[in-house]
Amino acid sequence: MQQDGDQDRINIAIDGPAGAGKSTVARMVAEQLGYVYIDTGAMYRAVTLSVIREGIDPSNERQVGELVDTLAIGLMPGKNGQTVYVGGNDVTDSIRSREVTLNVSVIAANEKVRISLAAMQRKLADGKGVVMDGRDIGTHVLPGAELKIYLTASVGERALRRYKEVADTQRISLEQLEQEIAERDRMDQQRAHSPLICASDAVVVDSTSMPIEEVVATIVHLSRTKLAEAK
Ligand code: DC
Repeated sequence: MQQDGDQDRINIAIDGPAGAGKSTVARMVAEQLGYVYIDTGAMYRAVTLSVIREGIDPSNERQVGELVDTLAIGLMPGKNGQTVYVGGNDVTDSIRSREVTLNVSVIAANEKVRISLAAMQRKLADGKGVVMDGRDIGTHVLPGAELKIYLTASVGERALRRYKEVADTQRISLEQLEQEIAERDRMDQQRAHSPLICASDAVVVDSTSMPIEEVVATIVHLSRTKLAEAK
């Protein structure tokens, strides 16, 4: 819904495969513009964590679909850009566990889950001024977003970045991480409901050999241009 002052803010959708740097970039862009950062992957992770904790088989579509509507998922600006709650409990760290990561693509392929979470995401973006990252934001959740970015990088580079993040805490080889990321890409791209694809009107940014500051500056510049056009 158009509100007073909407012409001063736009919505920015940042989509792309796992490990392309979307969350970090989206958080930094939001900070620079004074916008709200929303990490939609965290919402799929919160559902996955709850499914695991309830002892539900992630591939049981009906039970997972029933659970999703009972969950009170809350997002607040906070540590690492966003604090995530389920039923008032802070799950920000637990949703990053390896068990959640290995199961989240199955949950993200569940149509009922996607419908529920997409409705929440649209509401969060209603007043404009959000930077939302995910897989289907520009194509499905916010097709009217004024700026759409498809942020990607080679699978080798994405695995290397993840490896550096987790090497201290997880015993996993670079090769295994690369395989897991490639498998998650495949599942996200091939699922039936709102798969990961590049929107036809998205600007493709390949961050393989681009410093993060340059990626952020590129997006901030594009958003200022879009904002000027929208006025
Ligand atoms: O960005 P991430 O790795 O935290 O995302 C976790 C999973 O959620 C990922 O495998 C794909 C899925 N996802 C999705 O299907 N749609 C979104 N808008 C965001 C994430």
